[in-house]
Amino acid sequence: MKKLVVMMTLALGAGSFGVAHATIVGSVHDFSDNISVLGGNVAFDENSATGWNGRKEICRVCHVPHDHARASQRYLNGLLWNHGVSSATYTMYNNAWSSTLNGTQSAQPDGTAKLCLGCHDGSVGVDTFDKYAGGVVFANQYSPDAKVTNFTDGTNIDLRGTHPLSIQFPAGDTQFRDPTSATWANGGTVASTLDNGKVQCSTCHDVHNQESVAGTHLLRTGQTAATGTASGLCLTCHIK
Ligand code: HEC
Ligand code: HEC
Ligand code: HEC
Ligand code: HEC
Repeated sequence: MKKLVVMMTLALGAGSFGVAHATIVGSVHDFSDNISVLGGNVAFDENSATGWNGRKEICRVCHVPHDHARASQRYLNGLLWNHGVSSATYTMYNNAWSSTLNGTQSAQPDGTAKLCLGCHDGSVGVDTFDKYAGGVVFANQYSPDAKVTNFTDGTNIDLRGTHPLSIQFPAGDTQFRDPTSATWANGGTVASTLDNGKVQCSTCHDVHNQESVAGTHLLRTGQTAATGTASGLCLTCHIK
């Protein structure tokens, strides 16, 4: 069976150029098209009069191989981070609402969640990277569907309506599948997508991937019969 799957994957890969192994190239997070932002704030562009990512690189908007001391030590966020992060104070999921919440939740979003929120909370410009001051916040550009509901304008930074974040996956909790054996659609384990043992944005979403099926929001496992199984993402972790 395993051999068959490998052979099918190879056949797919050969026949359909990259479809079997979708990557960030051409995805919503590939800004190398250097498109001009809605609102037209393009003053910080290096080489082009009409876009904001004049170098037309993909990774550089988020990571840089060498820090050039152009901004305030963004690399301290780890992963050679090259994008602005938010200094906002968030209202976290309220663990007093539940008697069943066993994992320890950080007082504020931390780890890789801070990196996603550096664009998705609407308080930092998407174009705040490298030496550019930026300033065009998320809410003013791109598709409205790409905003985290009720969490979009940089002032409403309330995470109480969002799945618990920066929360330890509770060890040995019988309400959950074992993260070292539960797997996502691509075969990777849930554990491999935890960040120091915590559930973060990137546990559920793959920022380096394409939305191969419309409406799946870069989820690691589809949520509908058309994209996986009904509530397949939730049931990968929760035993319900
Ligand atoms: C829109 C921002 C963004 C872009 C663009 C981006 N990354 Fe990332 N990258 C992240 C975030 C956020 C994380 C941490 C969360 C995670 O691991 O998924 C990360 C993690 C990583 C990691 C370490 C963990 C892992 O998943 O392997 C590597 C390596 C990496 N990125 C390489 C790249 C490369 C190479 C490119 C360009 C081809 C790239 N990234 C483009 C945001 C980005
Ligand atoms: C990566 C694994 C994972 C996925 C996927 C996941 N959850 Fe969770 N969920 C958790 C963890 C861990 C907690 C915190 C549990 C704890 O601390 O006891 C949690 C907490 C919750 C809570 C709060 C429980 C309480 O006691 O207050 C709800 C409700 C919930 N999840 C629903 C969902 C839904 C609905 C989905 C699908 C959209 C989902 N979860 C997807 C891991 C996951
Ligand atoms: C550099 C800014 C930036 C960072 C950092 C970033 N994003 Fe995004 N993200 C965007 C933009 C801009 C879009 C919308 C693109 C569009 O509409 O064409 C987007 C789109 C998305 C979407 C698709 C929403 C939809 O329409 O379904 C998801 C999901 C997402 N991001 C999750 C994440 C996660 C998770 C992280 C961190 C691991 C992250 N993003 C980091 C800028 C960013
Ligand atoms: C427990 C899994 C889980 C976590 C953690 C999570 N998301 Fe999501 N996210 C989802 C699901 C499921 C959807 C699809 C919701 C729908 O269809 O209504 C979604 C949708 C989105 C969308 C599309 C717009 C929307 O609101 O429907 C964006 C953007 C997004 N998430 C970004 C993030 C960011 C940024 C974080 C961290 C701050 C995060 N997500 C954390 C599961 C998660």
